[in-house]
Amino acid sequence: MKTLHVDLGDRGYDILIGSGTLKNSMEQFREILKSDRVVVITDKNVSRLYKGKILELLKTITRDVYVFEIDHGEKSKNIDIVIDLCRNFADISLDRRSTVIAFGGGVVGDIAGFAAAIYMRGIRFIQIPTTLLSSCDSSVGGKVGINLDNAKNLIGAFHQPELVVVDPDFLITLPVREMISGIGEVLKTGIICDSDLYEKISKNLKAILELDDRRLVTEIIYDCIRFKSDIVKKDEKESGLRRILNFGHTIGHGIEAALQKKGILHGESVIFGMQCSIYLSKIRKLISEKLFIELRNTLKELELPVYVKDLDIEQILTFMRKDKKVVNNRLHFVLLEDIGRTSVYDDISDTEIKEAVNYVKKLYN
Ligand SMILES: NC(=O)c1ccc[n+]([C@@H]2O[C@H](COP(=O)([O-])OP(=O)(O)OC[C@H]3O[C@@H](n4cnc5c(N)ncnc54)[C@H](O)[C@@H]3O)[C@@H](O)[C@H]2O)c1
Ligand SMILES: [Zn+2]
Repeated sequence: MKTLHVDLGDRGYDILIGSGTLKNSMEQFREILKSDRVVVITDKNVSRLYKGKILELLKTITRDVYVFEIDHGEKSKNIDIVIDLCRNFADISLDRRSTVIAFGGGVVGDIAGFAAAIYMRGIRFIQIPTTLLSSCDSSVGGKVGINLDNAKNLIGAFHQPELVVVDPDFLITLPVREMISGIGEVLKTGIICDSDLYEKISKNLKAILELDDRRLVTEIIYDCIRFKSDIVKKDEKESGLRRILNFGHTIGHGIEAALQKKGILHGESVIFGMQCSIYLSKIRKLISEKLFIELRNTLKELELPVYVKDLDIEQILTFMRKDKKVVNNRLHFVLLEDIGRTSVYDDISDTEIKEAVNYVKKLYN
């Protein structure tokens, strides 16, 4: 088991990473939970698979364990669910010493973390991610929140967890499409982070997808978390540096909103968004044709749903303008200058965006 500490002073926390980590981290849980009340928030899929396991472990620490289940999927990220959860917290008299455990993917982490952030002006919470995406990305950094209508994560807070426990053993039961979605964010980290990590990921896409080498997957998750937590340490509230994590997300969020009803996944939208970003980087002459082709072909190895070829560009633009990342009416794009080097542009025209989206649509035709 490896440990990373996110040094945010009194809001700092440990991230424990490795196969079997959940079982081996009960001492750390004991320190945080003491014998106080604890609520596990999970979704129905994760509950079906792992409720027995988590209850068995937590009951060795405290008898006061409750489990609340939500429906799986992005549609749960709404205010009604959060209110329901808070009502449940009040019904069982959760207080300032209680802890919420988010046990599931990014959806559960974002909702449970947000409920923990606002209930009684904030109670403690722990993240136990069970998807690749939440293991390497969403469980770290303290961003929690929900959607407002189609606008992604428009309501939210910064609320750092007390502990994050990343156990790749959970990935065994994760459907392939969810693995691809997670690899999207993993590749994003490689592209914006450094060429060694990018190489390690791009050369092993199939092995990651099929979990052939659990040690390699753990190592890659560790590298992604280390990179993200380094950025969070330097820019916790996204006033500058942290923006680079939005690589592929400006157009990605527009796509996610436009195709939400069809069931597009977050990481899938980000893969499409990254394809657009590298295309924009190429037409702005920021990256060479050679690097563009290398990245395009690597991203293309990750399969996307066939309906992305039918995307309506006007609809994407409308959703993009509603995104919370719009500042003074200007959209911000993270573009690539090289692997591991990015900069932010706010002058990308609609014509350029349309050209990029049309190019990428054709790639998936
Ligand atoms: N807060 C952040 O910093 C941040 C960063 C990136 C993404 N996100 C958010 O994360 C969300 C996406 O997260 P996600 O990709 O983890 O999706 P998810 O939470 O919807 O989980 C994906 C699916 O896999 C199922 N599942 C979870 N763990 C499983 C397991 N071990 N075995 C079998 N099935 C399992 C879930 O029930 C769900 O159906 C989006 O809402 C996105 O906005 C947040
Ligand atoms: Zn993301």
